[in-house]
Amino acid sequence: MGESQVKRPGAEGREDPVDGGPLRVAVLGAGQLGRALLTGLTGSNGGPRIELAASTRQPCDQGPGVRGISLEEDPRANNHLASWADIVVLAVKPTQTMPLVEDIADDVRPGSAVVTLAIGVTASAIQSALPPDVDAVRAMPNLAVEMRRAVTGLSPGPGAREEGIRRVRELFGLLGAVVEVPDERLDVLSMVSGAGPAYVCFLIEEFTAAARCLGFEDETARTLVDETFHGTMALLDAPGRTASSLLSEIASEGSATERAIATLAQSTIAEHTEQAMQAAVSRATELGASISRGRPPAR
Ligand SMILES: NC(=O)c1ccc[n+]([C@@H]2O[C@H](COP(=O)([O-])OP(=O)(O)OC[C@H]3O[C@@H](n4cnc5c(N)ncnc54)[C@H](OP(=O)(O)O)[C@@H]3O)[C@@H](O)[C@H]2O)c1
Repeated sequence: MGESQVKRPGAEGREDPVDGGPLRVAVLGAGQLGRALLTGLTGSNGGPRIELAASTRQPCDQGPGVRGISLEEDPRANNHLASWADIVVLAVKPTQTMPLVEDIADDVRPGSAVVTLAIGVTASAIQSALPPDVDAVRAMPNLAVEMRRAVTGLSPGPGAREEGIRRVRELFGLLGAVVEVPDERLDVLSMVSGAGPAYVCFLIEEFTAAARCLGFEDETARTLVDETFHGTMALLDAPGRTASSLLSEIASEGSATERAIATLAQSTIAEHTEQAMQAAVSRATELGASISRGRPPAR
């Protein structure tokens, strides 16, 4: 992609969102994470006024406030949205990401930002496939974007300008906490927080199974455990309180809770949690390597 292609559709007459116009956000590939992002952004308050659009392969209603367009209806849907948006979010599978960037590279407007969510695809790979006046940023949110309680890791491409990074940071800031890390740390971060909701659900399932073993019926066991998780997270919202400080408050010396925690601490749960994350990081590295070799990942 050379600089001769700088003049692309939609570059002229666009009101700058920084000067009060709406920020146009296009989500290409509204699957599980893309839909969650759209739901979170639709319900967000504060920040810039946002116009949302999304593409899918098959026609699919994206709900109120989102302009949905499918490749079945318009095979150039992604190109049109890329030339319309200030921020283009690529929410397709990792193997589909580079082909999509190459497809839209000539359409993306100068001064806009392209954000990839894919595990294993670096910000520099995206940046190198885009014109120099487009800012590439990699973001690694989790599914809690839907509830605006996510944590998103961010890593700008090597040539990304501060203005583009700031807009992307603010966008994900509407959906929860944002943590900036170097590109090479983002796959590791994705296996802590990106996949994090899966670990929490696994723990909830284990606790519920234990409650059933203690004689509670299924529905009661679920209520006991689900509400305990909700309530604990609400307690941790209090300023200055941490999991460690709350734990010492609850598991006081000589208490029954202290004995339960001591039993858990003697188990291999800590070691296995780290091993589980390391296994996930190895898998992400394998996926990334096969994507950069242009081969489908082995299962
Ligand atoms: N899910 C998570 O919790 C999570 C967390 C962090 C990062 N990520 C990353 O986020 C990305 C999306 O993950 P996901 O779980 O949302 O995957 P997903 O549910 O499979 O969503 C991808 C969507 O993109 C559509 N699609 C494929 N090619 C397209 C194209 N050219 N134009 C428009 N739409 C297209 C797919 O349609 P078809 O189904 O018809 O192919 C599908 O609906 C991945 O790169 C993943 O690594 C996900």
